[in-house]
Amino acid sequence: MSELSGLKALVTGGASGIGRATAALLAARGADVAVLDLDPSAVGEPLRGYLADVSDDASVRSAVAAAAEALGGVDILVNNAGIGAVGTVGDNDDAEWHRVLDVNVLGMVRTTRAALPRLRASAHAAVVNTCSIAATAGLPQRALYSASKGAVLSLTLAMATDHVREGIRVNCVNPGTADTPWIGRLLDRAADPAEERKALDARQPMGRLVTAEEVAAAIVYLASPAAASVTGTALAVDGGMQGLRPRPRAR
Ligand SMILES: NC(=O)c1ccc[n+]([C@@H]2O[C@H](COP(=O)([O-])OP(=O)(O)OC[C@H]3O[C@@H](n4cnc5c(N)ncnc54)[C@H](O)[C@@H]3O)[C@@H](O)[C@H]2O)c1
Repeated sequence: MSELSGLKALVTGGASGIGRATAALLAARGADVAVLDLDPSAVGEPLRGYLADVSDDASVRSAVAAAAEALGGVDILVNNAGIGAVGTVGDNDDAEWHRVLDVNVLGMVRTTRAALPRLRASAHAAVVNTCSIAATAGLPQRALYSASKGAVLSLTLAMATDHVREGIRVNCVNPGTADTPWIGRLLDRAADPAEERKALDARQPMGRLVTAEEVAAAIVYLASPAAASVTGTALAVDGGMQGLRPRPRAR
């Protein structure tokens, strides 16, 4: 029997990048998987796609209800949908702050709130939030994005505490810069995309970006019964970016 067979999983933002790799790996390990995304049009078998905007409570509630009904429950919730923001604290206006916090933080609140009754009914309930290296390291030009991911880190700990006695584990992963369509869009906007890519690679001690599949492997571990004693943790998948201080390479 596959490791996750019989388990039902929801992945927000599962139509692209890290979410897409996570949904595919959950399914490959035997889970029944529903993807909730702003654009689920490219989601194909064996995944089920549902249109959902995590910044809209009614949309989240109806997508979670429909997905849970079709799957026959929810054991695993991966809160992964997120958006970026570039700038110092002086650069983003109030509307942008509200928009990004609404998607990145409240989005996780809405999906978890909607899925909680189903999670409580599961014998293997796990929530995994996609956080970021931006929660634990000061990155340039990421004031708003970092604030949103710092909130995700604290929210993960608080949720893990609130639900530990209900048998629901809550953890997060902290990816370093990951090679997804998101970073592709950032590079496209750079003055010199090749130079920018080199700078991003060099910022990671391993000298390369993290892959979506590497982040997915960590999410799936935290979501699986193999991690039954793991809750309230942040698992870095960042090529050493948070913890290591290697000397610069000799030129
Ligand atoms: N790529 C990176 O370098 C990196 C690093 C650290 C953390 N992360 C985090 O990983 C997560 C996924 O990022 P990615 O790089 O795979 O991005 P991506 O842009 O490739 O995929 C994001 C997905 O989320 C969906 N989405 C966006 N807003 C949504 C909304 N309001 N409702 C529902 N779905 C929505 C998009 O349609 C898309 O399918 C994000 O939370 C991001 O903050 C990414």
